[in-house]
Amino acid sequence: MKLGVVILAAGQGTRMKSALPKVLHPLADKPLLGHVISVAHKLGAEQIAVVYGHGGEQVRSAITDSSLLWVEQAEQLGTGHAVEQAMPSMSGMDLVLVLYGDVPLTSPETLDNLIQALAGSDLALLTMSLANPTGYGRIVRSSAGAVCSIVEQKDASPGELAIDEVNTGILVADRERLDDWLAKLDSDNAQGEFYLTDIVAMAVAEGVDVRSVQSIDEYEVMGVNDRLQLATLERHYQQTQAERLMRAGVTLRDPARFDLRGELTTGRDVEIDVNVLIEGEVYLGDGVQVGANTVIRNSHIAAAVVIKENCVIEDAQVGEESIIGPFARLRPETELAARVHVGNFVEIKKSTVDEGSKINHLSYVGDTTVGRTVNIGAGTITCNYDGANKFRTVIGDNAFIGSDSQLVAPVEVAEGATIGAGSTITRDAPANTLTLSRAKQFSLKSWIRPTKKSKD
Ligand code: UD1
Ligand code: CA
Repeated sequence: MKLGVVILAAGQGTRMKSALPKVLHPLADKPLLGHVISVAHKLGAEQIAVVYGHGGEQVRSAITDSSLLWVEQAEQLGTGHAVEQAMPSMSGMDLVLVLYGDVPLTSPETLDNLIQALAGSDLALLTMSLANPTGYGRIVRSSAGAVCSIVEQKDASPGELAIDEVNTGILVADRERLDDWLAKLDSDNAQGEFYLTDIVAMAVAEGVDVRSVQSIDEYEVMGVNDRLQLATLERHYQQTQAERLMRAGVTLRDPARFDLRGELTTGRDVEIDVNVLIEGEVYLGDGVQVGANTVIRNSHIAAAVVIKENCVIEDAQVGEESIIGPFARLRPETELAARVHVGNFVEIKKSTVDEGSKINHLSYVGDTTVGRTVNIGAGTITCNYDGANKFRTVIGDNAFIGSDSQLVAPVEVAEGATIGAGSTITRDAPANTLTLSRAKQFSLKSWIRPTKKSKD
């Protein structure tokens, strides 16, 4: 069975009060529409059409999925009209599933159930029972319980308004029959729109046994209309991810204070303290500990690494048993080998640091190659930038850089070299030798400390 998916995304989203089209607002750093497209792919859809209207060009350029078919609905004449616009791009499909660009959390399992329910029929609806059904289309059933029609809130009689089973809007239908039903729609209703929901009564009139599946999780069918609803779904999504990670064996000291905006892969016995934010693709190896208030973005953290509080790590690789932080910043293209120590107020960028080396306090290391078991003293700065170009610093194995030194690149400190504290190194420092550049210290015996003059 070839499955086509039509995603309705032509809505204005005025209640977002935003310059950004609603379906581009992010949930866990991914546009709402992106979540819906991902689900369509997971279902194995062969064609995915997105019906766009308001902010169309912005939506098209933000969503870079080349397999999508974009369908413009210039005027919003109703959900039925919107689906009809997409039908030419569904030719060749057996089934058509209708989803919504602003309903991001429908699970593939629920939609699979809906598709299964279609077997032997031509139309299946995803419905839900709500304590307060106000605003939704109601599912009208016969006394025997068969689906008869959907009545919109604005067209419903008092008796129909009392029905608590509502239309989520999501449905799946036989492609050919859907084509026929859509062609027969009219806009003779309270809103003067072409209602997609009117196909239900048409199908019933043609003797179709319309199926329904009830969604048990209201978050799965909840749409985003304003920023409050967006935040509600974000929290729900984060809670779901936290639960999944804990079931997979990750310790989260407080699942309510953990955010994942991307993909996290973990080894065994990973421990994550409060207020940690993981973004992009992150790997945390066996036994990794992440301290409070840390952000890790697109990074690979090997086994038994300890990341202390308040670190920011981006596009970096950290070797096993390394110790990072507190207050360390690893910037893009930082590669640390095993057992490296990076302490407080240290910034590392575009540098490799080999096994066992230590940069423990107040340093900037940029565009640098650091060898094994090097000790970089407090306050060391690699001066990698002359205002126009960047240059590399190379520090050999077992070198010792005294505190408060500046290494003015391009420069090389050879293996085993020692740099005296407070030096400004502008030329290569030879191996196994002490190099320093400092004014000679002297003491002035005749000097007398000034005293305060009396006022009168
Ligand atoms: C629709 C359903 C209603 C259901 C409710 C669930 C119809 C007639 N009614 O009502 O039974 O309970 O959803 O939320 O289908 N859209 C377009 N083009 C259009 C019109 C709408 O793309 O011309 C898109 C909107 O962007 C939105 C979605 O379709 O994402 C639903 O449209 P909306 O007008 O909000 O429908 P409701 O009145 O809420
Ligand atoms: Ca709506």
